[in-house]
Amino acid sequence: MTLAQRLADKWAGWWQAKWQASHQLAGPWDRTWLGQARVIITGASRGIGEALAKRLSFYGAHLCLAARSTEKVHRLAQHLRTFGRSQIIALGMDVTKPEDRKLLIDGTVYYLGGLDVLINNAGVGASGLFEEGSPERLRQIMETNFFAAVELIRLAIPHLEKSPVGGMIVNISSVLGRRGIPGYADYCASKFALTGFSEALRAELVRQGIHVLTVLPGLIDTPFNQHMLEARFRPPWREPERMSASQCAREIVAAMLKRKNEVVLTAGGKFLVWSNRLLPFVVDWVLARMMRRYP
Ligand SMILES: NC(=O)c1ccc[n+]([C@@H]2O[C@H](COP(=O)([O-])OP(=O)(O)OC[C@H]3O[C@@H](n4cnc5c(N)ncnc54)[C@H](OP(=O)(O)O)[C@@H]3O)[C@@H](O)[C@H]2O)c1
Repeated sequence: MTLAQRLADKWAGWWQAKWQASHQLAGPWDRTWLGQARVIITGASRGIGEALAKRLSFYGAHLCLAARSTEKVHRLAQHLRTFGRSQIIALGMDVTKPEDRKLLIDGTVYYLGGLDVLINNAGVGASGLFEEGSPERLRQIMETNFFAAVELIRLAIPHLEKSPVGGMIVNISSVLGRRGIPGYADYCASKFALTGFSEALRAELVRQGIHVLTVLPGLIDTPFNQHMLEARFRPPWREPERMSASQCAREIVAAMLKRKNEVVLTAGGKFLVWSNRLLPFVVDWVLARMMRRYP
């Protein structure tokens, strides 16, 4: 993150706190439908999920924050309750456990009185060549990034279709859910599954008035790499610049307000997706050339 971005984030946080304290309002934009929305965010303990929680509370949304780190989500909920007037609850849970998923949906409906938006953000990754991986690693990634999101959607649909503001599902996939790259095969597979599922579901749920937004971020400045199940791959390419988590959250919320179908984030992410759309054989050639020299 550049110094200018850091300063801009700091200033935005200070201004938000001042505004909320002096106006006893959620934010100047709380007249949008998000001001009445009841939203679940999985993976809210850090990174993109935490930034989304802060951004959505600014808009006055009522939130249920979920992650395995119980203490962290409760602390964040407590912090967000200090400002604004929205209801914020938190739940320590594991999205891969069916009983926890049921508790998350039922608990949110009970405490917030319904559900308008489900944000499937919880995710894990791993890096390393496929032949160095294990069936257990692949299954854990698929369970968290794909099956958990799909099963949460299954439980949420009956509530989302009753939403007075129009139900919405936001699936946080990745640009690696549009273009596979070496060293991340398991992760790419899980994100391709989520992207394809979201595309199919979007048309199916039109009848119930539920919208599906797919978010395809490129590199975001979060502790994602530190929490990977395994990190064995040393990419033979230069990493593009990372987007801050708060900027990422701003762009996701803007896409939610515009009810977009899909949004690709970061310049590097857009470059990868578009070059693969226009010249897939060139991307194949470049990646193969780099991997021939891989140790
Ligand atoms: N960072 C990037 O560059 C990037 C790029 C493209 C896409 N994404 C996607 O964006 C999403 C958020 O990533 P991030 O960068 O914010 O990563 P992060 O900082 O590692 O956050 C991941 C979040 O998911 C939660 N989580 C993981 N496993 C869980 C489980 N089994 N049950 C409940 N919560 C679980 C973690 O909380 P606990 O550990 O407390 O459970 C944490 O809050 C992921 O789906 C990721 O694939 C990230």
